[in-house]
Amino acid sequence: MAAEIEQDAARGPIGRMLAADHARLDALLNRAAADPERIDPVPYGEFRRALLKHIAMEEKILLPAAQRLNGNQALAAAARIRLDHGAIAALLVPTPTPRIVAALRAILNAHNQLEECRGGVYEDCDRLAAAESDRIVAQLRSAPEVPAAPFNDGPKVLPAARRALARAGYDTLLPEES
Ligand SMILES: [Fe+2]
Ligand SMILES: [Fe+2]
Repeated sequence: MAAEIEQDAARGPIGRMLAADHARLDALLNRAAADPERIDPVPYGEFRRALLKHIAMEEKILLPAAQRLNGNQALAAAARIRLDHGAIAALLVPTPTPRIVAALRAILNAHNQLEECRGGVYEDCDRLAAAESDRIVAQLRSAPEVPAAPFNDGPKVLPAARRALARAGYDTLLPEES
């Protein structure tokens, strides 16, 4: 707990805002999966919409702003972050099952850590943005909602999700029988 408070104090405005969003998303996913046998559709629906919006905030606002502030050079971790987002978004397409939620949770744990850690993407963004941090936070706060398509359980969906996971290095997280 003390370490968490210390970590939070060390964050800049961008890191604080997006780490708080991660915590909100984690809480929604925990509620959705409180019964391990059955995913609760109401908190899951809220989690799915909020996560798609969070990803859009990072891809459409944060990473482009960081690239601009970094002399038009993409951040070193940007490609990795986008591959993770591709895997996460692919897992949000089908109706959730406990296996899909377990895979999502594993990716999010690693991904959020990559963004929040010391020397991670959020810290880089706050450092690059400096005096502009508050303006970027305001842009993130006014990001539009992302319309979520209905679940798609077509035959191509899970193979496509497995390919997206493999591209991001998570090949073992969604075995064939799931
Ligand atoms: Fe992300
Ligand atoms: Fe994030």
